[in-house]
Amino acid sequence: MEYRRIGNTGLQLSAFSFGSWVSFHKQIDDALADKLMGIAYDNGVNFFDNAETYALGESEKMMGRIFKKKNWERSSFVVSSKAFFGWHGKDNKPNQMGLSRKHLVEACNEALQRLQVDYLDLYFCHRPDESTPIEEVVWTMNMLIHQGKILYWGTSEWNAAQIMEAHRVAQQYNLIGPKVEQSQYNILKRDKIETEFKDVYKNVGLGITAWSPLAAGFLTGKYLDGIPEGSRFAIKGMDWLSSQWLQKEKMEQVRQLKNIADDLGVSMPSMALAWTLKNPNISSTILGATKEEQLLQNLKALEVLPLLNDDILERINQATI
Ligand SMILES: NC(=O)c1ccc[n+]([C@@H]2O[C@H](COP(=O)([O-])OP(=O)(O)OC[C@H]3O[C@@H](n4cnc5c(N)ncnc54)[C@H](OP(=O)(O)O)[C@@H]3O)[C@@H](O)[C@H]2O)c1
Repeated sequence: MEYRRIGNTGLQLSAFSFGSWVSFHKQIDDALADKLMGIAYDNGVNFFDNAETYALGESEKMMGRIFKKKNWERSSFVVSSKAFFGWHGKDNKPNQMGLSRKHLVEACNEALQRLQVDYLDLYFCHRPDESTPIEEVVWTMNMLIHQGKILYWGTSEWNAAQIMEAHRVAQQYNLIGPKVEQSQYNILKRDKIETEFKDVYKNVGLGITAWSPLAAGFLTGKYLDGIPEGSRFAIKGMDWLSSQWLQKEKMEQVRQLKNIADDLGVSMPSMALAWTLKNPNISSTILGATKEEQLLQNLKALEVLPLLNDDILERINQATI
């Protein structure tokens, strides 16, 4: 495994990490999640990603039970939670979501309980909240750090201006600003990471944890001939996600990517995952998996990294930009 620092912090994350969105509780049970986390950890993964809203709190509870059972040294892994969406779904009451001091503090305490840990290494604002003053967010995160409940804080799907505004406030009041942004990043979705954040990396040393590196599975090529049974796009209620990807032009791009992977003699997922790590601003690419074979195949993508030379990267660009 390779380890990368988050932006200009001292914290090191494994280049591949493991996340629980959709899979934990909805698709896989404790026994399989235990196996997958074990495979990840044994292969050097040190960062496990979660959020209050995943399976409405059940994903964090599942991960917490597994941490407890595994009894790994707490200093050997990094765990995150994210607040914003709440965990009551459509029944969220006014203060049960958003980035108010009340919700950020309560969501943090609840995540600690569910994950059965004393502190979160990373705590993300899962989305921006225009109705809460940024000063309140930055002060609250700074307070949680001082209370020892979180070690670093970050944002998810904030834009460059919002992140810079948080840093302006942090500088003005001598507080700790956001050190990491969690954004979608894959071969078919790259503008924000490659263009919009260019100055942010330079100015504040931001790190990135990349989500949906396989475009929710689309970049494996497995949806080219229909929706396989048991896959994410086959889950009831996932049309909002599948409709983003199952479009004629994007299918054609995946077909072309498949040719490149075939020429290289590697699998599509390996090529797509390795591609994300070619970007030095990526601190960690978060893997998702519902099967042992998927995770083992995906972790091997590190071996593909050296094969992605300038010619291959150019072919990938030609096929997709
Ligand atoms: N901050 C945010 O807003 C945000 C949003 C989304 C995700 N995330 C984080 O990022 C993590 C990763 O996102 P993601 O799960 O969408 O990642 P992804 O890598 O784009 O998709 C993972 C899914 O693709 C399928 N898959 C993976 N490897 C495969 C393989 N080798 N062959 C065939 N199918 C394969 C599996 O789904 P099936 O087997 O079900 O098809 C797997 O669960 C999440 O767990 C979460 O921690 C964050």
